[in-house]
Amino acid sequence: MTAPDDVPPDIDLERVPSHVACVMDGNGRWASQRGLPRTEGHAAGEAALLDTVDGALDIGVRWLTMFAFSTENWRRPTDEVRYLMGFNESLLLRRRDELHAKGVRIRFAGRRDWRVPRRVLRRMDESAGLTAGNRRLTLTMAFNYGGRAEIVDAVRQLVRDGVPADKVDERSLRSRLYHPDAPDPDLVVRTSGEYRISNFLLWELAYSELVFTDVLWPDFRRRDLFDAVAEYQRRERRYGGVRS
Ligand code: IPE
Ligand code: IPE
Ligand code: MG
Repeated sequence: MTAPDDVPPDIDLERVPSHVACVMDGNGRWASQRGLPRTEGHAAGEAALLDTVDGALDIGVRWLTMFAFSTENWRRPTDEVRYLMGFNESLLLRRRDELHAKGVRIRFAGRRDWRVPRRVLRRMDESAGLTAGNRRLTLTMAFNYGGRAEIVDAVRQLVRDGVPADKVDERSLRSRLYHPDAPDPDLVVRTSGEYRISNFLLWELAYSELVFTDVLWPDFRRRDLFDAVAEYQRRERRYGGVRS
């Protein structure tokens, strides 16, 4: 792969994380700072999402998982929740063709429960179906996603499958997570200066490198992704072992 001109020299293209996961946070504060309603912050986050996808494509990230709506976000005011449902639906409608053209496979992680409007589910299914054959980058939108819910769902599946207690191990549980084909995230980026996980990918990020930035999500661009990747490349991953 030839490096696009704007990829900074401090990134080693031979050691790009294969899976990057992002907690897209700070939309509300971005809007408040401008005297705008919170929903304007969500709308402004679209450009950040698309630029981040382009940045991932630039440097050859293969898996990108984005936290779009958590199982706890239903606690927000009804108007904001309604806005987010409609916004995510229209975003898919507006952007799926260009993402498809770029070779992006779109898919979703989360619970398909009664609270997610049917038309949103339909748009999700259409987008996933349209892009199912793409392999350049897998963009997983974590939507109505909770890390605890995912583990509970996997345990329920183990029980349904009649797996005996002594056959329950990390492998059998992991294979029942929402997307067992995806490698665990190498790098998790959280924006907006919050230093927490907020129920994101609890199982999968056991050994992920965590990078926190003060940038509010609507201001995040591929350059911020590259900075996080450069930081990742300065880390030493040990997985409980010792330096070899
Ligand atoms: C992230 O931004 C988007 C969602 C959680 C849907 P927030 O809406 O959480 O923004 P802040 O954290 O209130 O600034
Ligand atoms: C996490 O952000 C969820 C998403 C980005 C979708 P929140 O804004 O909901 O997290 P908390 O409430 O600050 O922990
Ligand atoms: Mg937030």
